[in-house]
Amino acid sequence: MQQAAELFDSWANAGKGESMAKGHWPMVSQIIERMELHSGLHCLDVGCGNGYAVRAMAQRVAHGGKAVGVDVAPQMVEQARIHPENPANAEYAVSAAETLPFEAESFERLLSVEAVYYMPDPLVAIKEWHRVLKPAGSVWVMVDYFKENPYCHTWGDLIEIPMQLYTERKYRELLELAGFTAVYSKRLFNTAPLDAEYKANFKPGWGYNSLDDVTDFRTRIGSLLLSGKKSSLDIPPD
Ligand SMILES: C[S@@+](CC[C@H](N)C(=O)[O-])C[C@H]1O[C@@H](n2cnc3c(N)ncnc32)[C@H](O)[C@@H]1O
Repeated sequence: MQQAAELFDSWANAGKGESMAKGHWPMVSQIIERMELHSGLHCLDVGCGNGYAVRAMAQRVAHGGKAVGVDVAPQMVEQARIHPENPANAEYAVSAAETLPFEAESFERLLSVEAVYYMPDPLVAIKEWHRVLKPAGSVWVMVDYFKENPYCHTWGDLIEIPMQLYTERKYRELLELAGFTAVYSKRLFNTAPLDAEYKANFKPGWGYNSLDDVTDFRTRIGSLLLSGKKSSLDIPPD
């Protein structure tokens, strides 16, 4: 956990919180549309980075609801906290995903974007997410680092902390093992043309040899979304 906190603090200090937010928003905005948010709900974003998704959820649950972001990297949380566009019902805390500082059944919605594969044992974290969700609450997990994405296989060598490379099926099994029901997965696509600045600055790397590879990822492979519900009839897993 300390390793992840140090790595992502350095990313925060290098301005990567903002660039990740910009890169992930086209898919995360699609997830937020599916989450059926409305006034009064309590939402949690685990591994919230610079807090962009917390702000978006907070706006949609205003008038009685709130959105909370947690992240293991203190600098990420600090950047999220001081962001000028934070609504009054957005809150942040430094916390590991596996030991959340919340009572059982505190939230109706839990989102986690591009974070779970950095966790040494994702199942431990997903069980903790099940604990803090209310019955009938839902979990929403997005990952770009998964076996069926051929462009990501080198990321584990490029990033200095251990990462878990799982298949889509393994992720669905983990959600079920953690106690979630109605588990499903789907891909999210970004069909917007690559922007001029991105094209001008593109250099081969991170698995992409050309701009065609980037477009292929965005429009054919897609980001992996996993979702499940905490049933009101669930018997908690061991
Ligand atoms: C790739 S960034 C994604 C940030 C943000 N969700 C986004 O979409 O831009 C991964 C984030 O997960 C956080 N993270 C990694 N391991 C974590 C853990 N065990 N507990 C909580 N946060 C963690 C990192 O500090 C980092 O901010």
